[in-house]
Amino acid sequence: MKSLHGTAGMLAVVVAVCGCSRQHKAAPAPQATAVGSALVVSSGDKQLGPAGAPLGQPLVMQVNDDQGNGVTGALVMFTGPAGVKFDPSELLTDSSGQVSTNLTLGNTSGRYQLTAVTNNKAGHALPVQVPELAAGYQEELGYQVQRTYCSRCHNPESTPEQVSNHDNLSVPPHSFDQGDTYNKLSDADLTAIIGHGGPAMNLSVLMPPYGKTLTKAEIQAVIAYIRLVSDPPYQAPGLVYAKQ
Ligand code: HEC
Repeated sequence: MKSLHGTAGMLAVVVAVCGCSRQHKAAPAPQATAVGSALVVSSGDKQLGPAGAPLGQPLVMQVNDDQGNGVTGALVMFTGPAGVKFDPSELLTDSSGQVSTNLTLGNTSGRYQLTAVTNNKAGHALPVQVPELAAGYQEELGYQVQRTYCSRCHNPESTPEQVSNHDNLSVPPHSFDQGDTYNKLSDADLTAIIGHGGPAMNLSVLMPPYGKTLTKAEIQAVIAYIRLVSDPPYQAPGLVYAKQ
């Protein structure tokens, strides 16, 4: 045993000196073999997932050259607020110019602004902001409620599981992420429209009342969901962000 320890110690020293610790946990950043001139999101931004759990899709970014072609071997690094995990956080673009990382958001619900960055020829960083959304218990409930009761009219996208009626409505409702519309409505406005239907706020009768179908907690949960997915982001009036 002694000699084994001795050998391990020797190896550790050698590795530390030559800096070639491929297997070591805190491996150094991979060395870029190329640089691009633009970094773009390919897929996986604006996902909604449970707080503290891995998101369903990886975040895929692409590094392009001046002609818009993918660059192989460019280094992309990811950073985010405390609690966010990237697997991996640094990697080189593949033969199509892309990198893919798996994301786990923090335990607090809300909007997480992540940053992906690559360097251009001049050595300047090209940062790209990538928003992702973490739902807490209330927003998760709101997501389920709106899926059951609202999305057939409010979500313009039709899927085999969820056929949308949106385009058949003479007065098209807004999709819940349309912050330009929803951020102007107070929580009290939303509660009135959802509880009493469109006419409560001089809107169309095509917007049904849900005061008898949904509990107060469910209506509040839908509102929390709407506030979370809002783009541009919702800022509660008079709220001081003392915590962050
Ligand atoms: C049968 C279709 C239908 C369903 C189901 C429906 N809505 Fe609507 N909703 C509408 C229509 C149509 C409007 C637009 C009314 C107008 O602009 O005059 C609307 C408008 C609204 C508005 C005002 C902002 C906007 O988008 O124009 C809110 C808030 C709203 N709905 C919330 C909900 C919620 C929450 C649910 C589920 C609990 C829901 N709606 C379900 C049809 C629907």
